[in-house]
Amino acid sequence: MKQTVLVSGGAGYIGSHTTVELIEAGFNVVVIDNLSNSEASALDGVRQITGKDFPFEVVDCCDKAALEEVFKKYEFDSVIHFAAFKAVGESVAEPLKYYGNNLNSFCNIIELMNKYGRHNVLFSSSATVYGEPEELPVTEQSMRQPATSPYGNTKQMCEDILRDCVKAYNKDGNGLKGIALRYFNPIGAHPSALIGELPRGVPNNLVPFITQTAAGVRECLSVFGDDYDTPDGSCQRDYIDVVDLAKAHVVAIKRLVDGKNKANYEIFNIGTGRAVSVLELVNAFEKVNNLKLNYKIAPRRAGDVTAIWADPTQANNELGWKAERTVEETLASAWAWEKHVRGIE
Ligand code: UD1
Repeated sequence: MKQTVLVSGGAGYIGSHTTVELIEAGFNVVVIDNLSNSEASALDGVRQITGKDFPFEVVDCCDKAALEEVFKKYEFDSVIHFAAFKAVGESVAEPLKYYGNNLNSFCNIIELMNKYGRHNVLFSSSATVYGEPEELPVTEQSMRQPATSPYGNTKQMCEDILRDCVKAYNKDGNGLKGIALRYFNPIGAHPSALIGELPRGVPNNLVPFITQTAAGVRECLSVFGDDYDTPDGSCQRDYIDVVDLAKAHVVAIKRLVDGKNKANYEIFNIGTGRAVSVLELVNAFEKVNNLKLNYKIAPRRAGDVTAIWADPTQANNELGWKAERTVEETLASAWAWEKHVRGIE
């Protein structure tokens, strides 16, 4: 029998790419999204890529009554919970927006999963939980550091909510099971260029800023700091292709569905294991797309960690998952998507 997965936040950047991969892996999907930071047109892209239709409901996970209707209406055993706010700076300015939304929505999901006997949940966590790491690369056993933003704090708190709920609501081995995927820096777009990242306003993240600068929407990219203690002085990150990341969700949900999980709550780093600096990324973007990017060195951005990259061994061995696309392929896909959005030939 085909398994069905409820995808919350399925119209968003990672949600839409994961919906494609789920459908292509043979899952049925039900998508919900409140469209607060996404466009329903992303789901048209998903339909176009997969050639499949699927139910979509505009629902806010904080609206428990509306969410409950979804649980009553559809049969699904698994939930992938993407729906959350994700802008670090905004979370510092408006902490209650982040605590209210990101915590309540996840609590509602878990509560209704228990009530309706739906047992498998994936949570979108982040490398932000490691803060400024004491050792590199970080493993799942590396210490979490105190969160440096309310956004990061909601990721830590949701991980803890999941850990505690699994413990409380799965005493007989037949209840709630969860996996937290700690994403490193997701970038790029689907190779079809039919879906990709759609930031509203001025992008906070590096790659959308790069592609918008290349498209002439932004005048100049600021490289935030070239005096860090790294080989070229700019920060280092582990940039993970969004399609590779989406595929990690498929294998993680299969692990839960097939009962292959080794504990009722598990955590996996989803990264490449590769450290890439801001300047290296800019150079690779210029080279692979054969263009010159207008950029300048600017002061450090408050709150940025110097360097972080993943040890993905656990995901490689336990999930049988490995990042496959090269940074160059990913940066080419990011540019193809930006050109599609802007109507550039
Ligand atoms: C942040 C969050 C991360 C979240 C991710 C996606 C923290 C510490 N990090 O990652 O949890 O999942 O966003 O929302 O909470 N940069 C520039 N110029 C720019 C933009 C960025 O030089 O215009 C640099 C930054 O200094 C950084 C790198 O590019 O070194 C990556 O930045 P960004 O894409 O914003 O991601 P993170 O801050 O690493």
